[in-house]
Amino acid sequence: MQKIDIKTLKENVVSLFDDKWALITAGNKESYNTMTASWGTMGELWNKDVCFAFIRPQRYTYEFMEREDYFTVSFFPEEYKKALGFCGRYSGRDYDKAKQTGLTPMEVGNSMSFEEGEIILLCKKLYIQDIDPKGFIDESIDAACYPQKDYHRMYVGEIVEAYIK
Ligand SMILES: Cc1cc2nc3c(=O)[nH]c(=O)nc-3n(C[C@H](O)[C@H](O)[C@H](O)COP(=O)(O)O)c2cc1C
Repeated sequence: MQKIDIKTLKENVVSLFDDKWALITAGNKESYNTMTASWGTMGELWNKDVCFAFIRPQRYTYEFMEREDYFTVSFFPEEYKKALGFCGRYSGRDYDKAKQTGLTPMEVGNSMSFEEGEIILLCKKLYIQDIDPKGFIDESIDAACYPQKDYHRMYVGEIVEAYIK
């Protein structure tokens, strides 16, 4: 992997999340979890380069996001779409996702990602906020995305390291 300045990343951020999907991973070698995410973005906030992740409270990954100070956001070549499908369908409570998908866990700074990643962002947690239904101007989003009222927790992470292949 080659360390880069995140500002030199050429990919379209909307397409990265919506089309490629990401793995959000938190924890350490002994204990970590990962899940697929397609809701997220990156940009600039508080004079820092940041990445936003949105995690529903029932995800196993949520526990790791709460426990840890860092998390990674990783994007993969197309051939790993099936692996990402698995990580987005099954819980780490029930399966060893690395074992099931063949992805190879590796340490990245104070967190974890996978050797197969082609873009890996190491993020330091800066801010959390639960989606507040009172904030919806377009209330149809609440009805469409939260029938179970399981509002995402938004994590704003500072992108402290970025790697590409
Ligand atoms: C394409 C795709 C995108 C997803 N995006 C999100 C997301 O942004 N936030 C979220 O909380 N769950 C999202 N999920 C659902 C989780 O990945 C899924 O519930 C996963 O099994 C959670 O695993 P865990 O319990 O091991 O954390 C997505 C699933 C898929 C397939």
